[in-house]
Amino acid sequence: DALPALLKAMPKAELHMHIEGSLEPELIFALAQRNGVQLSYPSVEALRAAYAFTDLQSFLDIYYAGASVLLKEADFFDMAWAYLLKAKEDGIVHTELFFDPQTHTERGVPFEVVIKGLTRACEQARTELGVSASLIMCFLRHLSEEDALKTLEEALPYRDLFIGVGLDSSERGHPPEKFARVFARCRELGLHLVAHAGEEGPAQYIINALDILHVERIDHGVRCVEDPALVKRLAEHGTALTVCPLSNIKLCVFDKMEQHNLKTLLDQGLKVTINSDDPAYFGGYLHANFLATFEGLDLDAGHAYTLARNSLEASFVSDEVKAGWI
Ligand code: ADE
Ligand code: ZN
Repeated sequence: DALPALLKAMPKAELHMHIEGSLEPELIFALAQRNGVQLSYPSVEALRAAYAFTDLQSFLDIYYAGASVLLKEADFFDMAWAYLLKAKEDGIVHTELFFDPQTHTERGVPFEVVIKGLTRACEQARTELGVSASLIMCFLRHLSEEDALKTLEEALPYRDLFIGVGLDSSERGHPPEKFARVFARCRELGLHLVAHAGEEGPAQYIINALDILHVERIDHGVRCVEDPALVKRLAEHGTALTVCPLSNIKLCVFDKMEQHNLKTLLDQGLKVTINSDDPAYFGGYLHANFLATFEGLDLDAGHAYTLARNSLEASFVSDEVKAGWI
């Protein structure tokens, strides 16, 4: 069967990957040792065994704990470089990495340390791997809008080092409109805008992300199917959904891959993309997501082409660069 080889070889973009979610247990332990950080798990195996999630929050608790080993610029570089090597292996030609500065600045790590380490890895990916990589700064929605505004101020001296902003962390109870002012400010600054919506939250959060935050893509968005008018709108506008199949299974958004609605979304004409979200926690990088999705939903080479093209079209690179890929 030639499909797995095609899925790996076809040029594609990854548009929904949290760099802190690429931190493998082995690297968590290595960085803990290097930085003298005490972990509450005795071993790599014990930590990995704790990766049994029941919902988004049960994952986030352990994801933020894992990130506590990141202190120095070299730590952020090492984490991002490890991901970028995997990206190269999986046939990714362009990737837009989410990072969560508040997870680090809250612990006293300067914003500059975070962004410089990540940027150096992105630059090296371009020169040594031929992989293009950009950064999207996410605001943590469980924190206040004031906190997000403060983070934006801290980020402004490095405005040229990231292409956009996103919204992540605990969705339920933290609707998009909570961040209306900070997104309006980012829009004025000419930043690209995305937000997680409709992962665990209702379809109305997707509508509000579009109408109030003016986002250009929806991260996850799988609960859009609960509102047929919204599905129609997303299809008509060609709004991309950055869907994360293995994440959705691990966080119990769907019980098993056979029940995932990705094929339904594609059939309804939505601009769906496949992404890995937090690959170290959810059982695989981008290629593993493609394999599991194609197997579970019985997709074919035509779907592969559509998904790869969607990912390149929905990326935030210039039209000239896109024209070279598509
Ligand atoms: N942060 C990292 N992964 C996330 C996800 N899947 N949803 C919300 N916030 C996240
Ligand atoms: Zn995500």
